[in-house]
Amino acid sequence: MTVCEYKPGLEGIPAAQSSISYVDGQKGVLEYRGIRIEELAGKSTFLETAYLLIWGKLPTKEELVDFEKEIASHRRIKYRIRDMMKCFPESGHPMDALQASAAALGLFYSRRDLHNPVYIRDAVVRLIATIPTMVAAFQLMRKGNDPVKPRDDLNYAANFLYMLNEKEPDPLAARIFDICLILHVEHTMNASTFSARVTASTLTDPYAVVASAVGTLGGPLHGGANEEVIQMLEEIDSVDNVAPYLEDRLQKKAKIMGFGHRVYKVKDPRATILQDLALQLFDKFGSDKYYAIAQEVERIMTEKVGNKGIYPNVDFYSGLVYRKMGIPTDLFTPVFAIARVAGWLAHWKEQLEENRIFRPTQVYNGLHGIAYTAIDQR
Ligand code: SDX
Repeated sequence: MTVCEYKPGLEGIPAAQSSISYVDGQKGVLEYRGIRIEELAGKSTFLETAYLLIWGKLPTKEELVDFEKEIASHRRIKYRIRDMMKCFPESGHPMDALQASAAALGLFYSRRDLHNPVYIRDAVVRLIATIPTMVAAFQLMRKGNDPVKPRDDLNYAANFLYMLNEKEPDPLAARIFDICLILHVEHTMNASTFSARVTASTLTDPYAVVASAVGTLGGPLHGGANEEVIQMLEEIDSVDNVAPYLEDRLQKKAKIMGFGHRVYKVKDPRATILQDLALQLFDKFGSDKYYAIAQEVERIMTEKVGNKGIYPNVDFYSGLVYRKMGIPTDLFTPVFAIARVAGWLAHWKEQLEENRIFRPTQVYNGLHGIAYTAIDQR
């Protein structure tokens, strides 16, 4: 066997063959099954895009209606899951609550019939349908309220905002939220998707696959950055403070949240669309003082580190969009997970089609032949 050079973070090493999505990081292009995200964001819906990613083709009208109906009829969560979530500490992070709840779902459906397309479809529908209900339920229960029941007459995005805010959302906000889900649903071999594929490769159940991916998404170097961006903007607090703040952080070699990407060396195309969505919301519902601060951060970062290929990523403007919809800061990453679950499931399905367990190697840099030292001689 040829020994490859060790690459920290597996940079540039292909971990799978995949036809689900494609990124050109130099040109700022992202495609799902060959279709540009700009086109999907303008014309598709989250559930149609999820179908495209998972089953590899755009659904016919009948297929889409069936899929939407199936999702709508599986939105409720079991009372035992809800009761379990009630016992979670309200100070706990909603990503931890989501990870535990997604894993707990597997307790009810532990049969692993991985070669059966009906089992696969049921798991896909159940996970896509219930994850938003879990996120909204934890939010209401930690405030001491009962969760709101899902509404079958509302579409996927509108129903989530309804369950979260306990009132029917404005149609523009609901459409923009749906576009956000499209933008976050899939992104090649990112860390959480890799985690999902590694877990899938052991032939465990899809609930464990999603739970492991949720755990991976939560970190601040990955999906958790969207929450930290808003905290950073709040800390900066005024446009005048941006330059000294960035100067100080960059000098200390600290990372500026929402900037940089392993693959993109230009502005993330999703950040451009999210910025535009934020402006649409500000037009209708009033501006946000943090937007001017964010623009100044982008301007100065481009001046200082743009030449190193460091530009805004998907997490930089998403929080400003979610804030306008009344979504609390610590729910930004669970919202990312609501979308990304469909991408993880597309990779789960693809992994099963040509599975081989992930078992890479390591470069051992420890010692050999060391004698055991008795405890009283150490
Ligand atoms: C997501 O992979 C995906 O596709 C992920 C994602 C998806 O949809 O799934 O796109 C979602 O996770 C977006 C990324 C969210 N994370 C952040 O915003 C956190 C801040 N960004 C970084 O920590 C960083 O840019 C990463 C984690 C995104 C990428 O890390 P890499 O590829 O390992 O890059 P690196 O840390 O090795 O940095 C390379 C250089 C360094 O400078 P030098 O030492 O070479 O001089 O770039 C600098 C870094 O210091 N750098 C930054 C920076 N990001 C990189 N400097 C300041 N601020 C930053 N944010």
